[in-house]
Amino acid sequence: ILRKSFSMKTRQRLDYRNKLILAPMVRVGTLPMRLLALEMGADIVYTEELVDLKLIKSIRRPNPALGTVDFVDPSDGTIVFRTCAQETSRLVLQMGTSDAGRALAVGKLLQRDISGLDINMGCPKEFSIKGGMGAALLADPDKAALILRTLCSGLDIPVTCKIRILPDVEGTIDLVQKLAATGIAAIGIHARTRDERPQHSAHPEVLRAVAQAVDIPIIANGGSKNMHCYEDLRKFQLECGADSVMVARAAQINVSIFRPEGLLPMDELIEKYLRLCVDYDNAPHNAKYCVQSILRELQETPRGKRFLQCQTLQQICEIWELGDYCRRKQRELKTMGNSGRAEVEP
Ligand code: FNR
Repeated sequence: ILRKSFSMKTRQRLDYRNKLILAPMVRVGTLPMRLLALEMGADIVYTEELVDLKLIKSIRRPNPALGTVDFVDPSDGTIVFRTCAQETSRLVLQMGTSDAGRALAVGKLLQRDISGLDINMGCPKEFSIKGGMGAALLADPDKAALILRTLCSGLDIPVTCKIRILPDVEGTIDLVQKLAATGIAAIGIHARTRDERPQHSAHPEVLRAVAQAVDIPIIANGGSKNMHCYEDLRKFQLECGADSVMVARAAQINVSIFRPEGLLPMDELIEKYLRLCVDYDNAPHNAKYCVQSILRELQETPRGKRFLQCQTLQQICEIWELGDYCRRKQRELKTMGNSGRAEVEP
């Protein structure tokens, strides 16, 4: 216990100013993609949204074979959240919650393995709204503030939230001021309203007005449509007058957008990503989903079609000539007794 609190106190508190951030993305923001984003130049990476009810029943299990810390669902052994020391100082976990007490209990369970906790207050999906999570909290600012206040006073790590703008600028400023008063370290703002979809233009001018009116760091989000390279990230940040910028879709397609030196060729990126999937024994369906997001229309090519048939990490790796790497690594893991899901082909 002593060592735990010592390491948390000595870890530098996450600073949210002038940062390039990988946005929370369900299925995309798992360990290999987060590590690749950091390698490409992201300063902070968010996990995919993880729901409090799932996290609270998970068991923290260090995995010496992989060098990771796993949070495992005891009912079926699935890995709810996997992380490693390499990312800890730059890692923010995003949680879906509607309950301050439960959120705090989860925060305490997780805080030694992350550097920030973010609450999702922008997700418009039915699952979130029905559970009083995500964008439902935009309509209940008192509850949103209670959750944040509880976390800020009960945890040792910085707390943030990610919201969407409201239909009017004044309403958005009022909401941000109310949330800022809870003690949060920064606020992520997706520059679209709850009812707007990715095809709608974002509203950087609203973020600019908010940034001028409040003191806490603003993390601008929603600019992916116009982002094709590193300079475009900085342009969006300037346009919004924001402290930091957070990227989702553009990074899902090509995470080397964080690279000041320019984008990497697609195959090089996929190779790097697959190596990390192998190193951290990532679930094959998750690896496949992420590679599909990178390939996009190239899934129609003969190679793309071969890829779509793949079911194991080994099969996917063969296509990018990493078959030997995968086989060797999976054999090593098996000998070390990793109890994960590594699939070794006969
Ligand atoms: C998202 N988004 C999202 N937001 C969030 O707060 N928690 C989440 O888990 C997710 N999951 C998610 C998955 C995928 C595949 C996408 C594309 C998006 C929304 C995302 O973080 C961001 O707010 C929007 O996509 C707008 O930013 P971009 O795409 O314009 O950079």
